Amino acid sequence: MNAQSAKHGAAAGNITPDRPDWTIDQGWDNYTADEHAVWETLFERQTKLLPGRACDEFVQGMQALPIGADHIPDFRRLSDVLIKQTGWQVVAVPGLVPDEVFFDHLAHRRFPAGQFIRKRDQLDYLEEPDVFHDVFGHVPMLMNPMIADYIQAYGIGGLRAQKLGVLPNLARVYWYTVEFGLVTQAEGLRIYGSGIVSSYTETVFALDDASPNRIRFDLERVMRTNYRIDDFQETYFFLHNLDELLELGRIDFAPLYERARRQPDLEPGEILPDDEVIARGTGRYHSARHPAK
Ligand SMILES: [Fe+2]
Repeated sequence: MNAQSAKHGAAAGNITPDRPDWTIDQGWDNYTADEHAVWETLFERQTKLLPGRACDEFVQGMQALPIGADHIPDFRRLSDVLIKQTGWQVVAVPGLVPDEVFFDHLAHRRFPAGQFIRKRDQLDYLEEPDVFHDVFGHVPMLMNPMIADYIQAYGIGGLRAQKLGVLPNLARVYWYTVEFGLVTQAEGLRIYGSGIVSSYTETVFALDDASPNRIRFDLERVMRTNYRIDDFQETYFFLHNLDELLELGRIDFAPLYERARRQPDLEPGEILPDDEVIARGTGRYHSARHPAK
């Protein structure tokens, strides 16, 4: 799936939460056989595609968790394993939640996961994060201590960025790391971003297609870079190692926000003279989809 909310929040529809933190019961017993079957379809095809494409940390996380093909995972069982490993839990939410609610959960090591699953005619595209994106895509990475700390730091940073009025800059960092990040590993470029790893079509596009740029991650540059919420990314940013996220979690972003604010935003497909580019994309996919006006 490639379309989480630009701001993680802004609950869709007119849902009124029963609880102030917007959590709901997963209601695992209420999933229908068809909903479990949709999970199975998604799980099977993604699992076939990911060897040699997903990063080692994702594969290790997946292996250690009670996530399989035969049914939608039970969040309580996931949390039992996760909490022992990195102190995280998975909590169910109805869909998108307000930003401050989202950040507060992350700041307390609770990952809000969509309780619902997409319909069979939405296998490749969905506007809101569902249980497949959130659990298959995110939860294995939360088993990794670096990602676990980084996402918590993002939650704390999000609450601060909201007060400073710089949330769009921070959201770009999350987008181009947690959701759409790539990392170089011994055998080549691999995926760690949950938005890619949970999407059949974007997994192929991000790694194998000639269209997108693949550029070395640079924090200030990414803070200025717009992204697409309704389509594949035009640029993917790669790290040399997931350890870099540890550093990112420790940096004081305040002076960087100031500098980013004084410079123009960058278009998603733009390449700068200073960029370390390992693949300059042809841009063909997006120029066909979004012709210049
Ligand atoms: Fe996500």
